[in-house]
Amino acid sequence: MRITVIGCGYLGATHAAAMADLGHDVLGMEIDRGKRAALSRGEAPFYEPRLDALLASSVESGRLRFTDSYAEVAAFGEIHFVCVGTPQQPESLAADVSQVVAAFTGLAPHLDRPTMVVGKSTVPVGTAARMSSLMAELAPAGADALLAWNPEFLREGFAVDDTLHPDRIVIGVDDSRTEKQLRDFYFPMTDAGTPIIVTDYATAELVKVAANAFLATKISFINAMAEVCEATGADVVDLADSLGYDARIGRRFLNAGIGFGGGCLPKDIRAFVHRAGELGVEDAMTFLRHVDDVNQRQRERVVHVATAMVGGDLSGARVGVWGAAFKPDSDDVRDSPALWVSGQLQLKGASVQVYDPRATVSASHTFPTLSYADSAVEACRDADLVLHLTEWPEFRRIGPAELDGVVARPQLFDGRNVLDLDTWRAAGWTARALGRRSTD
Ligand code: UDX
Repeated sequence: MRITVIGCGYLGATHAAAMADLGHDVLGMEIDRGKRAALSRGEAPFYEPRLDALLASSVESGRLRFTDSYAEVAAFGEIHFVCVGTPQQPESLAADVSQVVAAFTGLAPHLDRPTMVVGKSTVPVGTAARMSSLMAELAPAGADALLAWNPEFLREGFAVDDTLHPDRIVIGVDDSRTEKQLRDFYFPMTDAGTPIIVTDYATAELVKVAANAFLATKISFINAMAEVCEATGADVVDLADSLGYDARIGRRFLNAGIGFGGGCLPKDIRAFVHRAGELGVEDAMTFLRHVDDVNQRQRERVVHVATAMVGGDLSGARVGVWGAAFKPDSDDVRDSPALWVSGQLQLKGASVQVYDPRATVSASHTFPTLSYADSAVEACRDADLVLHLTEWPEFRRIGPAELDGVVARPQLFDGRNVLDLDTWRAAGWTARALGRRSTD
């Protein structure tokens, strides 16, 4: 089919390349000239495993190209996927849906023949109904311009695989024609066994924010347990392993540490709380405020522990930091706990050297005043304390011997609970983590 993808960030660029790879003819709409130029060369403007290869082969085959013209998009596509961002508003918990509104306002006046628009952006519940009214008002095709909402659950670092092999497909529709067309479009995936749920607009919108709220709650639950473990001498990793064997609970998303970040979980739960308030059901969502608070407290606890480990005063202390991205296999530093902690330590007087295998450039744009090292070992040069804050596999491969003679004081804090603290302690290091049994 001839499809278009409006907004080519993490979601849109991956969707566009994946759909081209499946054999569709794809036109991507991206208003940022620099991003459009990179995408047209077959390069992702961010780091995402496998995406560059998929973009390059799709562009080369002629099945994927990019534009900045809504008229061209409308003329080309049979289905238009709206994938623009919905960041948090600067002075509010609410999501900023201005890019969604702009996409529909830009596209709809050009829709002069039967067509379908599919919203994939994560939006406050009620947005699809609003966009449906907007299309009815602006689209010359009238009732032949159909709308569906089809949330996307991709994770950064696994975006290509999650797009090509989703856990489930959820579509919100308000008539049977839309349902049939989207069922046909996704037939290769559903035929291969991917479950599909067809529902109304509001449920489809809610599935996405509810899923992220659940995941965030699971992480904050185990982080809250980590605090209890510290107060009792218990160990949060043993606790999570033991809980995880209960199939009703499951082990995934029970990794205690410095908490969740990124462009989705934090802003989605805040937007959900805000929307619940508008809908008069704020009491039902109060727990999400606590989830957010527990998450923020994790970051503050790391600063507290780091301060204690350097003797109670950060001024003049040298700290080496492993990791800046909000998670491994990504160069995304949006709301990154690692970068937040690094910034706080510096503000409190420490000299901080950060190393990340992929995110140094994006981190230096966000936080230009921090120092960035070229390697994990160099970040630790003369350090009084080493902090492990993003669990890239290369950090797990470093042993105490490699830092022999590099650090000023052999002290390690593991913010992700994946390093073998016993090995470091056996080599004479002071090694700590949140919620772990401490032998120091
Ligand atoms: C998330 C959702 O998983 C995805 O379905 C949605 O489409 C977008 O938001 P993503 O932001 O890529 O995906 O990251 P995710 O893997 O969910 O991790 C989010 C944060 O939680 C990261 O900072 C990660 O380090 C942290 N995390 C995750 C934990 O602290 N502990 C865990 O056990 C799992």
